[in-house]
Amino acid sequence: MLITGGNKGLGFEAARRLGEQGWTIFLGSRDEGRGKAAADELAAKGVNVVLVVLDVTSDESVADAVLRVREHTDRLDVLINNAGAPGHAITPADATVAEIHPVYDTNVYGPIRVTHAFLPLLKAAENPRVVMVSSAGGSFGVVTDPEQPVSKMHELAYSSSKAALNMLTVRYAQALPDIKFNAITPGEVANRKFAATDMNHHTGQLTVTEGTDCIVRLATIPADGPTGTFTDRLGPVAW
Ligand SMILES: NC(=O)c1ccc[n+]([C@@H]2O[C@H](COP(=O)([O-])OP(=O)(O)OC[C@H]3O[C@@H](n4cnc5c(N)ncnc54)[C@H](OP(=O)(O)O)[C@@H]3O)[C@@H](O)[C@H]2O)c1
Repeated sequence: MLITGGNKGLGFEAARRLGEQGWTIFLGSRDEGRGKAAADELAAKGVNVVLVVLDVTSDESVADAVLRVREHTDRLDVLINNAGAPGHAITPADATVAEIHPVYDTNVYGPIRVTHAFLPLLKAAENPRVVMVSSAGGSFGVVTDPEQPVSKMHELAYSSSKAALNMLTVRYAQALPDIKFNAITPGEVANRKFAATDMNHHTGQLTVTEGTDCIVRLATIPADGPTGTFTDRLGPVAW
């Protein structure tokens, strides 16, 4: 399986857990040095890991990543589109396209680039699955709930990028029924909890292990498992 942004945070923890289950891990990292350090750490734990330098904002890097994976296999069972950018939480009145574009490039165009490029390898697998690592911030239901802290976080880039990712998940799932596409959020939406990582300056209340429960679950669903869903570790999340 391939995990983008696998060098740290939830991506790294998902790689560790799934690698320890016996999966071969193609560990995506945009920076070769950070990726090698992470891959060495996984290899020391006995994980069968291949470093794949992969910047999701670059067509060329994604094309190179396909070639790298093809050196080892002609099919890909699982793709985890995990790499994400938080943006700068600029208020909507002050937000410009210049500020929003890099967030979309990573969180929206990134998963499209990577999914499109790896489709032939996914189609060659017996039970291919794609996990989209989204966010409660991408849910209209959550963002419009006054009880949810995110309803009072005034920004455009991150939440709208994850809402777009949710729609991408549904549209891919409808159009490609032989591949399971599911979106997840690493937190516990009902309890207003998220996972402590660099992205939130470690303010989350959940561990990365708890935060990756739903990634691990959707990455390993059986052939009769769901597609086109949005869940967290507790169950379904409103779109
Ligand atoms: N933590 C939570 O509770 C939470 C909640 C909702 C959603 N999420 C989502 O979970 C995913 C993982 O985030 P995290 O919390 O684990 O944060 P993190 O520790 O900051 O990890 C983010 C990862 O994305 C990578 N990345 C960023 N831009 C990239 C690019 N252009 N190409 C390739 N990789 C890139 C980073 O690489 P570098 O090390 O090179 O920067 C890093 O590996 C994100 O999609 C995030 O939106 C997390």
